[in-house]
Amino acid sequence: MQVNGKNFHTIWVHPENNQVIQVIDQRKLPFEFEIVDLKTAVDAFEAIRNMTVRGAPLIGVTGAYGVYLGLLNSDEQNWKSFLLETAEYLKGARPTAVNLAILIDEMVSVLQSCTTLESAVKLALEKADRLKRREIDWSEAIGEYGCDLIEAISKKKNGEPVNILTHCNAGWLACIDWGTATAPIYKAFLKGIPVHVWVDETRPRNQGARLTAWELSQEGVPHTVIPDNAGGHLMQHGLVDLCIVGSDRTTSAGDVANKIGTYLKALAAFDNNIPFYVALPSSTIDFSMKDGILEIPIEQRDGEEVSHMEGKLDNGKVTTVRIVNPGSPVANYGFDVTPAKYVTALITERGVCGASLEAIGKLFPEWRL
Ligand code: MRU
Repeated sequence: MQVNGKNFHTIWVHPENNQVIQVIDQRKLPFEFEIVDLKTAVDAFEAIRNMTVRGAPLIGVTGAYGVYLGLLNSDEQNWKSFLLETAEYLKGARPTAVNLAILIDEMVSVLQSCTTLESAVKLALEKADRLKRREIDWSEAIGEYGCDLIEAISKKKNGEPVNILTHCNAGWLACIDWGTATAPIYKAFLKGIPVHVWVDETRPRNQGARLTAWELSQEGVPHTVIPDNAGGHLMQHGLVDLCIVGSDRTTSAGDVANKIGTYLKALAAFDNNIPFYVALPSSTIDFSMKDGILEIPIEQRDGEEVSHMEGKLDNGKVTTVRIVNPGSPVANYGFDVTPAKYVTALITERGVCGASLEAIGKLFPEWRL
């Protein structure tokens, strides 16, 4: 998608040195646009952990390139055991987004058949490139299916903009290109369907206010940033036609882990009879889990993300200030789980399906448990 009129992905191989992976530093947006070089598996691990890169699909692909970077720094004798160690190490960078473990496991399973380090390095780069391409293609397919849902609502509204509420950033920044929750919005906008997006600010790290608002602005999509608590009020007053959010891990029975606060939006949507869609690629479905509340690991992050906030002063300086009473304890749960019963449907790369074991199993029969 566009950054100042130029096309970008959020991760790519350095055009002059394929031993370097480049990423957009999402910690700096929207105030600064900076590109960071990753040269080792440790660089990839840190980029995931400190949220230079973030969003489930991008975390997964960064993990895949991290495996490649690890092999580059390995030796002929020990590379097979080093590969397994690096894979486990990278998987530990963040716990909730299952894409990380799924893509790293895919890397390991193809690389184990290699007989030399040289062939493994070559294959690792090819495989990581393919996994990146796959995420982009899946996001675009999600966009097409989701666009049909928006178009159907638009027809009923006789040309009035369709109001879509989204939470956090499940946009192209999180997914390399297109996005998951935003892909249907971009597709509808490009098709000339009038849309308007309510962007939840998404405390504590403000991925909505900072990232979703930035990428929608870059594409010229009409949007309004709202405090996290405003969604219910807007829904009660007929100002939301549908919600579309992303996911970091969805169980085989359709329970959805997503950025903290998603569950409350789903409850409000349910109470107001507003469709609540979750857009996700199959690399976000954890087919080994059923009960999201009991089984999905929820990341707890540094309390400073709650007690402090970063912003830009009028003099152009980016600075951090304390916003919580000094001495008061804080808690920082990164994600929550929305039970399947509150999810109208899942929008996947294979089509739209109910959030249930049966419907998901029908769309992905190869994974049926
Ligand atoms: O903590 P983050 O920013 O990595 O959280 C991920 C998210 O942005 C969301 O939860 C998102 O909706 C899923 S990623 C497509």
